Amino acid sequence: MPSLALLASAVLAVSGTTTATFNKIYHPENAVCVDYTIPLSVATDKALSWNGTQWSDNFGLTDFVSMAGSRPDAGFPVPITGPVDYKDDVEISGTFCSPMKGLGDVGESGGTVLLASHGLGFDKGYWNSEHKPEDYNFVQFAVSQGYAVFFYDRLGVGKSSKISGFMNQAPIQINILGQLSAALKTGRYTGDYGLPKSVVLLGHSFGSFLSNALLALEPESADGAILTGLAYNSLSNVQIEAFNLRIAAEQKEAMMREWKDLDAGYVTWDDIYGNVNNFFKAPSYSLETVEYAEKNKQPFGILEFLSISSLSFEAPNFAGPVMYIAGEYDFPVCAGYCGGGILEKPAKSFFSASRAFEAHLVPLTGHSLNFHENATDGFRLVTQFLKNNGL
Ligand SMILES: *[C@@H]1O[C@H](CO)[C@@H](O)[C@H](O)[C@H]1NC(C)=O
Ligand SMILES: *[C@@H]1O[C@H](CO)[C@@H](O)[C@H](O)[C@H]1NC(C)=O
Repeated sequence: MPSLALLASAVLAVSGTTTATFNKIYHPENAVCVDYTIPLSVATDKALSWNGTQWSDNFGLTDFVSMAGSRPDAGFPVPITGPVDYKDDVEISGTFCSPMKGLGDVGESGGTVLLASHGLGFDKGYWNSEHKPEDYNFVQFAVSQGYAVFFYDRLGVGKSSKISGFMNQAPIQINILGQLSAALKTGRYTGDYGLPKSVVLLGHSFGSFLSNALLALEPESADGAILTGLAYNSLSNVQIEAFNLRIAAEQKEAMMREWKDLDAGYVTWDDIYGNVNNFFKAPSYSLETVEYAEKNKQPFGILEFLSISSLSFEAPNFAGPVMYIAGEYDFPVCAGYCGGGILEKPAKSFFSASRAFEAHLVPLTGHSLNFHENATDGFRLVTQFLKNNGL
């Protein structure tokens, strides 16, 4: 098991700023937005530790994937041990956007802040599409309905700190999410907006797993939850094969995308067809939208993906409203089909005390909900649900 000192030395420098225009964070035109770089001290005693080979080329990665994708009967060693203590100082890049008129003028729904965590393969831009924002930008839509949104690059992604892909994992990020939620509740990182009336966790995919697990651990950390791209029926040993993973730093776009300094634990699917295979459902997407998603894709740490199975999702002490939204034909979390009741039953059992529970399938849609045709139908479900429940 690596020492803490060794782990600390594996922390890579935060990528420096280059030209202002290249790195500028898009702000929807109907919103008042403030960008933050937030220093946090993370600490958890639930961290996992990588106890396998750290590959250095794509053959090594592929060998690992073939073992991880095999039936357990093969007896290949599990490369993870723990729990261990983990402590580090990191910086998280977050953006807060609220309606123009400000608190008090935005009607009944004024005062609710959505804390949005993106999934694997994305950065915070998942919520904030520059491509056809009227069709795909969740932040713009939510702001138009009177809501404020705080969305951030998760650890290891975009403008947030990078740590080894063999160390970055859900338990560390749950700690970060909890700290962000606590800060928002006291009015920090909300520009001139002031103190939110309520904070609601909003997730997509891995970001939903984190949000769900945080509410299981700390039910008081939010007033409601919207969990999108989440169900509990993945075939993770098949999923890891289906990603068709490559070491991000060795991909042809690595230099341009600032992935060169990521260690070999950061991986990404190989090309646009890998993206479609995992995240989109034909014919409900346009070529230019999937090209935009592919151009903006982000690597993820191998242990992020593998750490999902270590989480507990039962949140019997969380009483707030909970809504699930999944694409009907989601591959990663439903093995290609979320119908037949496989979403609602386990989801409802995890949130047995929720005062308002709803589960929806978005027809003809895959995993990447915000980039499918009619994404705004899903956006409307979210804000309607919040309004119906006084949030
Ligand atoms: C780490 O992996 C080695 C080799 O597979 C194994 O022998 C050892 O028991 C593992 N350590 C822990 C703590 O599981
Ligand atoms: C999008 O909405 C339109 C109009 O309601 C409908 O005809 C179409 O089938 C929808 N597309 C998808 C992919 O759901």
